[in-house]
Formats: sequence, structure tokens, C-alpha cells
Amino acid sequence: MKVTVVGAGAVGATCADNIARKELCSELVLVDIKEGVAEGKAMDLMQTAALLGFDTNIIGSTNDYTKTAGTDVAVITSGIPRKPGMTREELIGINAGIVKSVTENLLKHSPNAIIVVISNPMDTMTYLALKSSGLPKNRIIGMGGILDSSRFKYFLSTAMGCTSTDLQGVVVGGHGDTTMIPLARLATYQGTPVSNYLDAEALKKVVADTMVGGATLTGLLGTSAWYAPGAAGAALVEAIVRDEKKLFPCCVYLDGEYGQKDICIGVPVVIGRNGVEKIIDYKLNDEEQAAFNKSADAVRNMNAALDAL
Ligand code: 2OP
Repeated sequence: MKVTVVGAGAVGATCADNIARKELCSELVLVDIKEGVAEGKAMDLMQTAALLGFDTNIIGSTNDYTKTAGTDVAVITSGIPRKPGMTREELIGINAGIVKSVTENLLKHSPNAIIVVISNPMDTMTYLALKSSGLPKNRIIGMGGILDSSRFKYFLSTAMGCTSTDLQGVVVGGHGDTTMIPLARLATYQGTPVSNYLDAEALKKVVADTMVGGATLTGLLGTSAWYAPGAAGAALVEAIVRDEKKLFPCCVYLDGEYGQKDICIGVPVVIGRNGVEKIIDYKLNDEEQAAFNKSADAVRNMNAALDAL
């Protein structure tokens, strides 16, 4: 199995680190446009192999996509990250050109690859990668909901004083501060509703903290986060290469599901060796569906900005 991570910045390198530690592939290629950065990070990561005990061979490449040939799964993290005070949406102008050309370069050498998009604004970048490549919809997956759900479980665990591994919680909708929808009604603590343990006000705060989870970190770090985004990207790669049939919220193309068409947005999907294998209907209530429709409107407006580029 061969995996490529494009963009050897903090998110890409962390994703590669997680992929190597889990030995998800025998060959891992890290690509970046900055001369020597991918080679340097690949070598640094390889020097952890003896310490951590993995056999994955990691190589770096300065924008030479011939080295990515035969990739099974590619992760795109390229583009500029947000700075404090910026929304993910503000990155669209610069990142659209980058994501489009990275997708083309990848597919030129690996026509059968499944592509995971992390670059922001992720919902629009996923839509762009799908439309510009013409790939079947099962092969382009945006990574946002897995990360947002992990943040949701973190804030729930903090409020409840429990471990996040005992929690189930899903965030659907867009991967934006105002577009994501943490599904509080469906969140559980080992099968029991979290509303048994948190009052409405506490739950509202968990939801609000989750929605600005990325922005809070950007404010603290001066750039966007990388540990959780990198780990979330690797979790998605793992579900694909190990054919896990794992249920994750991911940004995928909808053709009528959840009442939406011609859009890529976060919904619960089964991920396996074919990429998106099935979209699961969570049977949202009226309030949740209204929030989902509003989120889809916002994502659609953002996608319209692609036409102006
Ligand atoms: C985040 O939410 C990078 O969009 C990513 O941190």
C-alpha cells in the first residue's frame, strides 16, 4: 500500500507521523513545494523508526510527483493555514488554485487514488477537487467532521469529567465556525444520552466551544492546529487502507441525501477500501434538518466564489 501526503507543513507532517506509527502503508511519500522541506521531514520521521518500531519507508519530494506514482490514498493538506481572526472561508482565493493543481498532479501519476482533502475551506476545496477532476464521488473525501467530532467529545468529556473514549458524538454540516452542527441530541455516554448528565446550558456551551474549536486554537497558536487535524486525517486513511467500514462524519458529495444536491458537506458515511461506501441517514429532527439546510446554503455560497476565480 502506498500513501502520499501533499503539504509537509504541520498538519501534513503530523498526519504522516500518525500514518507511519500505525504502519498503514509500506511506502509513504511526503510532497511540498518548499525546496528540501519534504525531504527533511521525511528523513526526520525515518529517524524515529528505530525508536518507535515501524517499517514504513518515508520519502520526501520537492514537488516531483513522479515519486508519488501508484499511490492508493493521497491526502491534500497544501495551502495557507488561517491566522488568528481569519475564517477558513477567507483562504479560498489562494487555496483553490493550489488544491486544483495538486489534484491534477496526483491523478496524473496515480489515476486510481482515493483523495482525502484537508485544505481549507475544506467543504469548498472538496467540491472543487471533485468537480475539477471528474472523479467518481466515492473517491473524494473531505476531512472535517472527524476532527470536529473529536473536539466535540473533548469538550463533552471536560464538562462531564469523563474520558472522551466513553463518548459518542457526531458533528455534521460544514467545517466552519458557524456552519458545523454538533448533534447534541444524539451524543451518548456509553449508550445513555449526555443530556442525562449535562443541563441545557452546559450542553449549549459544549456545542458553542466545539464550533469555535479550531478558531480558539488558532488564537492560542498563531496559526491553525495540527495534532488533531493530522490524527484525524490518518484515521481516515486507516479506515480506507484497512477496509474498516468505519462510520465517520465526512464531507462527501450529496445527490439528494439529507435533502441536498450538488454539494460536498459533512454527513455520516461508511468508509472502506472504496472510499465512501455508504451515506447513513441519521433521521435528523426538524430543528437539526433546518440547521443542516442553513449550513448547506452557506457552503453553497462559498462554492459560488469558485466561479469568480
Ligand atoms: C482545524 O479546524 C485545520 O481546519 C482545521 O483546525
